[in-house]
Amino acid sequence: MERPEALAKPDPVDSAGYAGASAKLSDLPLTDASVLTSPTMLTVENLNLFYGKKQALFNIDLKVAKNTVMAFIGPSGCGKSTLLRCLNRMNDLIDDVTIEGSVRIGGSNIYEPGVDVISLRKRTGMVFQKSNPFPKSIYENVAYGLRIQGVRDHQILDEAVETSLHSAGLWDEVKDRLKESALGMSGGQQQRLCIARALAVNPEVLLMDEPCSALDPIATSRIEELIFELKKKFTIVIVTHNMQQAARASDFTAFFWLGKLVEVELTEKMFTNPRERTTEDYITGRFG
Ligand SMILES: Nc1ncnc2c1ncn2[C@@H]1O[C@H](COP(=O)(O)OP(=O)(O)OP(=O)(O)O)[C@@H](O)[C@H]1O
Ligand SMILES: [Mg+2]
Repeated sequence: MERPEALAKPDPVDSAGYAGASAKLSDLPLTDASVLTSPTMLTVENLNLFYGKKQALFNIDLKVAKNTVMAFIGPSGCGKSTLLRCLNRMNDLIDDVTIEGSVRIGGSNIYEPGVDVISLRKRTGMVFQKSNPFPKSIYENVAYGLRIQGVRDHQILDEAVETSLHSAGLWDEVKDRLKESALGMSGGQQQRLCIARALAVNPEVLLMDEPCSALDPIATSRIEELIFELKKKFTIVIVTHNMQQAARASDFTAFFWLGKLVEVELTEKMFTNPRERTTEDYITGRFG
């Protein structure tokens, strides 16, 4: 597809902001223009990943700007979860994985020898497809990460629990039942609890792998609104199969196919005028 002249020019904000975006500010009806100049938070460079001998990711180069939401889309098996797990070294837990290339959060490569993986995971909270509250009280679920870090002061814990539940849009619903089991909550509440638990340790990056796929439309829209709020404080990467969700909740979208990053763009542009034919076929439902 031919690209219009104005959009084909190199992006002028490369040094500070997001190199991949080729749209103009006027292409941004949904997204605040500040996303184009926001400094880079996450940089993936020339990343290759192999499960045994089978290569699952090929030469991935990607930047995620601070305080923005990046959506990963693409057909099942294209490597979205694999790449997401590379961002907090969760693939280290899988046998026989080889990773080449680098992932930088802020300035430092998280794959450098000697990196403290525990403190890395504090910087990168993760929320999974299926909510996974612990069989503990609502309070203890949120306080969990801080307790692991050795925080004992009740006032600090109380404040962190309240702030995190507020941020996850859950405080008003649970403030009178903090001592009750988390397992008695609805599915949507449990997922927001898992978000609160991830936020309690004050991460810089929040990784979400299909966080709404088990939720009904109302619970889903609450999480999408939440994501939009949370990006004021955090940088968010979300995997989704729901095109409307990507369009509603993200600033940038990255489309993957067969382990390759086909295209990364401002979400608005990706969904109205994608550069690649494969992207267009996918988002219009012609395959996948
Ligand atoms: N632990 C593993 N061991 C071996 N191969 C794996 C492992 N996890 C994923 N793969 C393979 O890597 C490829 C990418 O898988 P991945 O789970 O990242 O895809 P995905 O895009 O998240 O798919 P989905 O949309 O179905 O969740 C697939 O071919 C998959 O079979
Ligand atoms: Mg997946």
